[in-house]
Amino acid sequence: METVGILGGTGPAGRGVAARLAVVGHDVVLGSREESRAIEVASAMSVRGAGTITGGANDAAAACDLVIVATPWDSAIATVTSLRAQLAGKTVISMVNALTREGRELVPIYPPRGSMAAQLAFALPDSAIVGAFHHLPAAQMEDLDSGIDADVLIFSDDAQAREDVAAVVHRLPGLRAVIAGSMSLASPIEAFTAVCISINIRHKAHSYVKMAGLVE
Ligand SMILES: NC(=O)c1ccc[n+]([C@@H]2O[C@H](COP(=O)([O-])OP(=O)(O)OC[C@H]3O[C@@H](n4cnc5c(N)ncnc54)[C@H](OP(=O)(O)O)[C@@H]3O)[C@@H](O)[C@H]2O)c1
Repeated sequence: METVGILGGTGPAGRGVAARLAVVGHDVVLGSREESRAIEVASAMSVRGAGTITGGANDAAAACDLVIVATPWDSAIATVTSLRAQLAGKTVISMVNALTREGRELVPIYPPRGSMAAQLAFALPDSAIVGAFHHLPAAQMEDLDSGIDADVLIFSDDAQAREDVAAVVHRLPGLRAVIAGSMSLASPIEAFTAVCISINIRHKAHSYVKMAGLVE
């Protein structure tokens, strides 16, 4: 089973994905700028399933077979750029959303290349960038008993990499992988996260995306 490293994995988003990857048997490394912090965060997590969750520096996470970027948007490029050589030849999943708060709402920020996934693809020319996990509420992901039943919209210009990521996501409890298409869809998919979070703030909810009308 592939090992999975999560850059910025000590935050709620990374922990939530890690919890579900470990259930199905992946060994996950939560990466951090500070190894000791990652070790502390990982050891505080209750792991259910055949996999493990350990903590390490971001470069230990980058050494895994599959790597997820889960830092805030404004530090994602600097984080991956310093790891470019280690990430070459690998599939790198971006779950990064560029958002800012305006009053009671979150609104999208559009980076120069239209999306964070496209920015990452530019920063990592020798990696296959796949977008996934953007719309998932982190606390419900980490709580394996939350009953979440969400779709994960997946996009990439690398057809094989997005199929591979879909196969990983499809095994995760509570999640269905839906391949949306190419990197051209990154901007609306990332921006839609602002809609999800604004709805959650307004309705005091933890909603998520589920596409109706798809044949299983
Ligand atoms: N929260 C959600 O529900 C959710 C859901 C889907 C997608 N996302 C996306 O996932 C990403 C992470 O979300 P989050 O809520 O987990 O964010 P977060 O808690 O603010 O940050 C995640 C981790 O990134 C690291 N980090 C913070 N500032 C950094 C910097 N300047 N340079 C390098 N690393 C830094 C920190 O780890 P260390 O201090 O240990 O290095 C932190 O624990 C975001 O892009 C977000 O849009 C979030």
